[in-house]
Amino acid sequence: MLIDTYGRVATDLRVSLTDRCNLRCSYCMPEEGLQWLSKSTLLTDDEIVRLVHIAVTTLGITEVRFTGGEPLLRPGLVGIVERCAALEPRPRLSLTTNGIGLKRTATALKAAGLDRVNVSLDTLRPDVFKTLTRRDRHHDVIDGLRAARDAGLTPVKVNTVLMPGLNEDEAPELLAWAVEHAYELRFIEQMPLDAQHGWKRDGMITADDILESLRTRFDLVPEGGQARGSAPAERWLVDGGPHKVGVIASVTRPFCSACDRTRLTADGQVRTCLFAREETDLRGALRSGAPDEEIARIWRAAMWGKKAGSGLDDPEFLQPQRPMSAIGG
Ligand code: 5AD
Ligand code: SF4
Repeated sequence: MLIDTYGRVATDLRVSLTDRCNLRCSYCMPEEGLQWLSKSTLLTDDEIVRLVHIAVTTLGITEVRFTGGEPLLRPGLVGIVERCAALEPRPRLSLTTNGIGLKRTATALKAAGLDRVNVSLDTLRPDVFKTLTRRDRHHDVIDGLRAARDAGLTPVKVNTVLMPGLNEDEAPELLAWAVEHAYELRFIEQMPLDAQHGWKRDGMITADDILESLRTRFDLVPEGGQARGSAPAERWLVDGGPHKVGVIASVTRPFCSACDRTRLTADGQVRTCLFAREETDLRGALRSGAPDEEIARIWRAAMWGKKAGSGLDDPEFLQPQRPMSAIGG
């Protein structure tokens, strides 16, 4: 079990498969991209499968989500999914992607055993997409979403970040579109994880702003009271349901006390939190021939040191050294 000193148990593992991306979302990366991790420091497919195996057989992980960067850029993705789906006990498998390339791979991913996808999409306007991501690929994302739904990678969730002056007025339009296409929309408050350190608390679009904007067009009722357990999204029934919308208030209503996550970076470091300032190396142990029990011991010890919260509310808050694309979303 991965338990920490606050009694939280991690059952949800996020694995970053690459730090690279084919978009340049301004809340994530600078236009010129980043200094990518070198091939030799990236975990191999075998190393990833071995770590997931240890996680599900000895550490109590039941849910594995592949992230990046952009995980569809990883050549071995389908094989990794297939091998993880064959593990006993079988973890639930999901993927967070920008959707580019999903059109080509959705069917193969489903056949390999992927259960669900989350696709990032911040706007319905191709010109705004181009400004926000610095790439003219809006139609590829729309095609990818449709392919995911048609392949049965459902529920297909759409992650949206609203940015002041760019897409802040689009919330109702996005929700009407999501309802029409049977996607489950979730708004995520912008977090200070961009490589350029451009995040500002003042002016950010908050969960309350988003709900207020949605309510100009929809009737929203909290789903099942307000208890959200470890699920970060507060969910609302749209116009009486069954359609739902989520709002992830990572900054204004953090859910750290119920956190059930552990993370692995693409270069084999355990992170206890997106906002952790320390990492624990597993790659070195893997490559020096450590047995499974030793790897599990290091991983447990890392999680034992997990901090109470993200520290986002603290005036002394310091952004993590590595940006989100390197940590895994
Ligand atoms: N703040 C909030 N969400 C972010 N994402 C990437 N960077 C940030 C940030 N700074 C989102 C992506 C993706 C998910 C993994 O996190 O849009 O949907
Ligand atoms: Fe790529 Fe995701 Fe970062 Fe956008 S937010 S640049 S899609 S890794």
